[in-house]
Amino acid sequence: MILSIESSCDDSSIAITQIATKKLLYHKKISQELEHAHYGGVVPELASRLHATALPSILAECEPWFGELKAIAVTNAPGLGVTLIEGVVMAKALSIALNIPILPIHHLKGHIYSLFIEQESHFPLTVLLVSGGHTQLIEVTSYTQMETVATTMDDSYGESFDKVAKMMKLGYPGGPVIEALAQTGDATKYPFTVPLWQSPLIAFSYSGLKNQVRLAIESASEEEYPPIAAAFQKTATDHLIQKLKKYGKQRPFKRFAIVGGASANLYLRGEVEKMLQIYNAPLLVAPLGYCSDNAAMIGRCALEAYERGDFVTHQAIEVKPRSPL
Ligand code: KG4
Ligand code: ZN
Repeated sequence: MILSIESSCDDSSIAITQIATKKLLYHKKISQELEHAHYGGVVPELASRLHATALPSILAECEPWFGELKAIAVTNAPGLGVTLIEGVVMAKALSIALNIPILPIHHLKGHIYSLFIEQESHFPLTVLLVSGGHTQLIEVTSYTQMETVATTMDDSYGESFDKVAKMMKLGYPGGPVIEALAQTGDATKYPFTVPLWQSPLIAFSYSGLKNQVRLAIESASEEEYPPIAAAFQKTATDHLIQKLKKYGKQRPFKRFAIVGGASANLYLRGEVEKMLQIYNAPLLVAPLGYCSDNAAMIGRCALEAYERGDFVTHQAIEVKPRSPL
């Protein structure tokens, strides 16, 4: 079995995955949303301190499996340095105590493998990764061949939801609350401009849209928040779809997936499904419970790393807060 640890941002999570069957034997996650809500975003130092108590409390439940562990998998890149280190230090301690090696796992690869928890993986696949830290289009050919073909020039899709929620004083994370609010508003009332719509670039940008929303909020009463949220969600998503269509003309989609925390957005899922109709391409998504950060996806990804023998020692593992795929 492999024990996997995730602490790249504000979720403390541990999972145990059986190597031979890919079965998820144990999974637990403690989120820090309430603690960060007051600040409208993740406060790294607070997140680090919360991991320091949450991770050991989850680990205590895993003790019955300790004798059967073959490796410790841990997210070591990318993410917040002060929170990644919490998971990595725990992995080092377990590696020493149990005399087993460490499998360092890339968080974004973990999100891609959230599609295949308890399943075989199937590639090639075009993946739209939409999380709090990233908005990327990735051509995935295999575990080792992942090419980022488009990325954001500034904010990410999920982060823009967080920032809009913060402007409306709706707490953190913004994604679910803005999605719910958008359902009750008329999306046509605020005709925001779609980012980069005249640009030939296949890239993403959310800072301009965020400013348009800020101006609308500043000159509106709270009754206007539902139509503003709806127009924001529509424009943010139209932007993704417009660029995906542009890309699809060059390289038609065969199999497409959305992963990352914001892949839980049902409006986004619906729009991508519509976009894929002309290609007759299936849409893959992870179960809703595994879209946001979790150790189950890290454990699933670690099965591939284990098979390849990508082990490191507790002395050699590095924390890499900035690390492209
Ligand atoms: O993947 P994730 O848990 O953490 C990172 O790796 O960043 O993604 C968290 C992000 C947050 O920005 C959150 O607001 C966003 O995913 N998110 C959503 C939704 N649910 C979560 N964004 C839009 N709509 C949602 N329903
Ligand atoms: Zn993530």
